[in-house]
Amino acid sequence: MNFKGKVAIVTGAGSERGIGRETANILAKLGATVVIGDMNLEGAKKAALEIEKVGGKALAVSLNVTDEVSVSNMVDLVVNTYGRIDILVNNAGITQPIKTLDMSVEDFNRILNVNLLGTFICSKKVIPEMAKNNFGRIINMSSVSGKRGGGVYGGSHYSAAKAGILGFSKALAREVVANGITVNSVCPGLVATDIRQGLSDETERAIWETIPMKRPGTTSEIGYTVAFLASDEAAYITGEDIDVNGGSHMD
Ligand SMILES: NC(=O)c1ccc[n+]([C@@H]2O[C@H](COP(=O)([O-])OP(=O)(O)OC[C@H]3O[C@@H](n4cnc5c(N)ncnc54)[C@H](O)[C@@H]3O)[C@@H](O)[C@H]2O)c1
Repeated sequence: MNFKGKVAIVTGAGSERGIGRETANILAKLGATVVIGDMNLEGAKKAALEIEKVGGKALAVSLNVTDEVSVSNMVDLVVNTYGRIDILVNNAGITQPIKTLDMSVEDFNRILNVNLLGTFICSKKVIPEMAKNNFGRIINMSSVSGKRGGGVYGGSHYSAAKAGILGFSKALAREVVANGITVNSVCPGLVATDIRQGLSDETERAIWETIPMKRPGTTSEIGYTVAFLASDEAAYITGEDIDVNGGSHMD
């Protein structure tokens, strides 16, 4: 895979041990210029610095994916700086381990907004730039929770948002295929990142036992799957979702 000359935006890539951060590292290593968009600007700056330290090209941007103005500002900055956008990884996400009956409307909206509305807003703002070059790759971060229900860290709102991403991706894929843009999703299973805050080692081990491969996935295993979907080699794949879950869910 070679991303030389390509410009990629990865949202939620500021988290030190996160999937987005590793995806950004991989895309940069393979030649892409990477834009790290995150609410956590300090984290985004660190991520960009790390990429530059090893000879890559990166730009840190303060971003709230739920805010249209914030997303538009990022898109304008990227286009003014690099002149193009080729790849969008809608990775920013939050979760909340809570039962449905304990969930407030605010909880439900917050989880839907970051995971699902954010994916819509970022895609909507980036697609016109991709269409100018008749090329684009959008990769949306769903989850095994969106297919199976009962996420380890997430409640029903998280499952709903991640399932929503799958439907959104397929519908969007049909709309933008004429513009040379593909839209696909990745569904990770358990991955050891900061999203697991508060999960005890004991609970985590118990979860491993339910996974056929008896271990969590790594951020790199997710990142390379994203990179494949972003590559020229994946040109004939659209509206698809790829499970990366050690066999914990098969469909
Ligand atoms: N870790 C897992 O087991 C797992 C499994 C399936 C899916 N996922 C999905 O993978 C993605 C990455 O998760 P992670 O595990 O790396 O989590 P993480 O908490 O390490 O990273 C999430 C990042 O999103 C950023 N973010 C949150 N709200 C934002 C907003 N409104 N605008 C911009 N950025 C925002 C955070 O600052 C953080 O940097 C998420 O969409 C998550 O739902 C994770």
